[in-house]
Amino acid sequence: MAFETIIVEVEDHVALIRLNRPDALNALNTQLLSELCTALEEADANDKVRCVIVTGSEKAFAAGADIKEMSSMSFAEVFATNLFADPSDRLMKIRKPVIAAVAGYALGGGCELAMACDFIIAADTAKFGQPEINLGVIPGLGGTQRLTRFVGKSKSMEMNLTGRFMDAEEAERAGLVSRVVPAKKLMEEAQGTAQKIAEKSQPTVMAVKESVNRSYETTLNEGILFERRVFHSMFATEDQKEGMAAFMEKRQPQFRDK
Ligand code: HXC
Repeated sequence: MAFETIIVEVEDHVALIRLNRPDALNALNTQLLSELCTALEEADANDKVRCVIVTGSEKAFAAGADIKEMSSMSFAEVFATNLFADPSDRLMKIRKPVIAAVAGYALGGGCELAMACDFIIAADTAKFGQPEINLGVIPGLGGTQRLTRFVGKSKSMEMNLTGRFMDAEEAERAGLVSRVVPAKKLMEEAQGTAQKIAEKSQPTVMAVKESVNRSYETTLNEGILFERRVFHSMFATEDQKEGMAAFMEKRQPQFRDK
């Protein structure tokens, strides 16, 4: 499909999705969110893709939902159309791993989009924030929920109540991002990480993603049981036999996704 607000490239088993509304700092308008979800769904369905990277520009991952598009909407309209419910649901259904490679601003919906990915690699220029409070609204794509789970109540509450930005170093310290890298190396590091994941057995990768995400949805006991049952089920795969045989034979495994 031809896209206007994003650029998609598939190379070496990795789909790279670049948000591309430079004049609006990649503000997430309806078209961009719809195209992004479609591109992610296409990547999920494409046998050649084993990992996805979502990124923006050097200046902005995304500066939030498009304020110009939202400014004149009424309560009746956003409620009746269930604004942002569709991208929220569609993002959560992607089964392949999605890495957010963030440089510059990741604000409001931009921060929420990054958090909806599986993990965030940040450039040292990254700035995260939930400044919706300054617009007289609150986050609408997980900013009060995911941020609280990632960085704890105190920091999430402060960020959401004041709208202040967090730099990359603080974001790493707080557990919001997995790693901070020099801005010039961001894409190289993200690609390298995606390649590493692409080499694994795909059913195992999907089982990890499902199991980690389960930890947000259930109690510890249920989560541990879910994990153990998934662990047991991996013994039905050929890749488990291959992975363990390769270890004992002191060679690299040749996974076949079976
Ligand atoms: C629409 C936006 C935008 C946004 C920036 N622009 N952010 N347009 N929606 N969220 C536009 C500006 O209007 C401007 O276009 C151009 O991008 C460049 O932005 P500047 O402000 O001139 O750049 P700068 O001075 O460098 O400031 C960068 C900035 C600032 C600090 C990121 O743009 C900013 O504060 N943006 C808004 C951040 C925000 O409040 N985000 C939360 C949105 S609400 P023109 O044509 O005017 O020059 C939200 C709700 C989430 O996300 C709900 C669920 C998805």
